[in-house]
Amino acid sequence: MDHFQYRNGELHAEGVALGALAEAVGTPFFCYSTATLARHYKVFEDAIAGLNAGICYAIKANSNIAVLATLGRLGAGADVVSGGEMVRALEAGIAPDKIVFSGVGKTRDELDRALAAGVTHINVESYPELDILSAASQATGQTADVAIRVNPDVDAKTHEKISTGRKEDKFGIDLALARDAYRHAAELPGLNVCGVAMHIGSQLTDLTPYREAYTRMAEMVGVLRADGHEITHLDMGGGLGITYGDEVAPTPAEYGTMVAETVGNLGCRLTFEPGRMIAGNAGILVTRVIFVKQGTAKRFCIVDGAMNDLIRPTLYSAHHEIVPVTEQQSGVDLLEMDVVGPICETGDYIAKDRALPPLDSGDLLAVRTAGAYGAVMASTYNTRPLAPEILVDGDDYAVIRRRFTVQDMLALESLPPWLESGSTTR
Ligand code: LLP
Repeated sequence: MDHFQYRNGELHAEGVALGALAEAVGTPFFCYSTATLARHYKVFEDAIAGLNAGICYAIKANSNIAVLATLGRLGAGADVVSGGEMVRALEAGIAPDKIVFSGVGKTRDELDRALAAGVTHINVESYPELDILSAASQATGQTADVAIRVNPDVDAKTHEKISTGRKEDKFGIDLALARDAYRHAAELPGLNVCGVAMHIGSQLTDLTPYREAYTRMAEMVGVLRADGHEITHLDMGGGLGITYGDEVAPTPAEYGTMVAETVGNLGCRLTFEPGRMIAGNAGILVTRVIFVKQGTAKRFCIVDGAMNDLIRPTLYSAHHEIVPVTEQQSGVDLLEMDVVGPICETGDYIAKDRALPPLDSGDLLAVRTAGAYGAVMASTYNTRPLAPEILVDGDDYAVIRRRFTVQDMLALESLPPWLESGSTTR
């Protein structure tokens, strides 16, 4: 359930009418609901309440510092995958000891900065990373708490590009090599090797792959303990699927039960890294119709939001529901159309062959489930300014990222001396 509902014939974000908001901030824009973020966080928290566990929200899903601060106040820690994300989490007030640093390619500089900031929970994914982390922690006299991310070779049965737990995927250390990796890690100074981490993919709509992976994880813990390692922490990753269209995702409660069944009796502290489940349905992209064009084969609804704002449809063939901001009258015949952006690529679409009520220039549409992997994956392709982000709380709203301007973009660029006006050197 989310808090984007029609009231008096107009779609609202909580108590805020989206038509008036569009007038105030312009289109396209992302709009997030505080109540929905909080509700999703609470649902997940309730689902794992019986476990010795904490939530490190995967901030890659939506890393606006206002969203992070909202979740941080509810008790969330953060899963970060770059030095930049770490700065965001800290800036939002999330304590360093509630941050876990994941990722397949951390640089020495990023590790140095993490340790300097007191972020010492590190999920390591390769032998060279173990060595470099050992050197970094020795240099500062700290001890890093290390979980090794293992690759269980389980197919998450999700989209090809977001499956991460098969042995041909770049992530983690193969289960077959894990014993040796832990032995190596235990010999290195500056590391407290205390955990096992796993993340097999994103948007999982079936618990079976999870169960398989977590069962392998539990077996691994037994093996590692027999080898003399003190394993006290398990990082369960994220990935729980949500409903974009007609998929039926497992409930967090069902997921929690499965976790308890597979790893609940190991006496470990568990960390969960949900991203999409928290933020996905807490956000929409509001866009305005520029033109409607009727061709001989198709009808195109050309809107001012595009693949640079929401790349998921073209990148993953992802389905996002689209609803008119003005509630459609009952009995109106729907028309089939492609909802496309103004970018000069055929791949620039938000939906194909979608049944929508008749639309006109100026009409507003809301693209749903755009709170996760929406604004964070946006680009300025075609020199399109990044869309603003708005956070609603009850009847209040705030601009939490202003719209880019073309001047913002040009300010980052410069002419070399030989092209400056007046130069005749070349
Ligand atoms: N933990 C790790 C180590 C991850 O790599 C990810 C996501 C998560 C947690 C959070 O997964 P979630 O709960 O959000 O599924 N851009 C893609 C999704 C990429 C996910 C990458 N890793 C999309 O738009 O579908």
